[in-house]
Amino acid sequence: MIGVFDSGHGGLTVFRVLARRFPHIAFVYLGDHRNVPYGNRSSDEIVALTRDAVCALFRSGCGLVLLGCNTATCVAARTLQKDWLPVSGWVGRNILGIVAPTVEAATQTPWAVTSPQYPQKYNTDTIAVFGTTRTIASHAYPEEIRKRCPKVTVVQQACPELVGAIEGAAPQDELDGLVGAAAAALLAQTGGAPPHRAILGCTHYPLVEPLFRRHLPPFTRLLSQPEVVADSLEDYLHRHPRFVGEPGERPRSPTLLTSGDPARVARTARIFWPDVPAFEHLAH
Ligand code: DGL
Repeated sequence: MIGVFDSGHGGLTVFRVLARRFPHIAFVYLGDHRNVPYGNRSSDEIVALTRDAVCALFRSGCGLVLLGCNTATCVAARTLQKDWLPVSGWVGRNILGIVAPTVEAATQTPWAVTSPQYPQKYNTDTIAVFGTTRTIASHAYPEEIRKRCPKVTVVQQACPELVGAIEGAAPQDELDGLVGAAAAALLAQTGGAPPHRAILGCTHYPLVEPLFRRHLPPFTRLLSQPEVVADSLEDYLHRHPRFVGEPGERPRSPTLLTSGDPARVARTARIFWPDVPAFEHLAH
């Protein structure tokens, strides 16, 4: 089984693409709705909450856990992969994040390449990153991009109110105002020059992608994170087939778990996935 973790609802934008792309793989989604949002929490809190969630998914039988949340990946992935997992006692398990595939797509460089090579070494593009306050403060995206493309300019912009507005089903003009303000603030940093690519570095932003499209210059290419993550997972599973398990004869229904109240969660979850399957309460 493969687990996908998110702080709450947002990871459903990634999960629904994975469930559709790999219908014969058993997937479990865990949303930490009791503690959402993570975007304005401290780093220590995010690491501890993410570690607890990964443990819960391992206990449920997942061999591989994908952190389908930008905030959790930016703040906790490296600590959990490098410092915690090797001494955790969870032998043979692995944790992936969603920053790696996104940076690979943005830089056209495999994640394993951490020293600049031709032609990325001479790439002078500008890449925009939008995300939560904590994602932007972590500097994970600029650091990982510059390891591969040192001459690329990375311009970041936090959108602290956008997650709440999307989850609260805010009217379109309010969402448009928030996205417009974020795009304007980002373009002010480039002196109006259009970035070559924009990373919508938060699980919620695919829902307002048309608004980002409208407020960013036509020249700027938007990276669709759910598709990028699905492509990358497909490649990873080819190289690590043990995580796929026995493919079912028929398509499998995904399991959705929440640390919150399943009935309440279901209402907001439909904003992200109109025919989302029912959530179950996390038993442990
Ligand atoms: N899922 C989070 C992300 O991608 C956004 C929601 C939160 O702040 O918890 O950054």
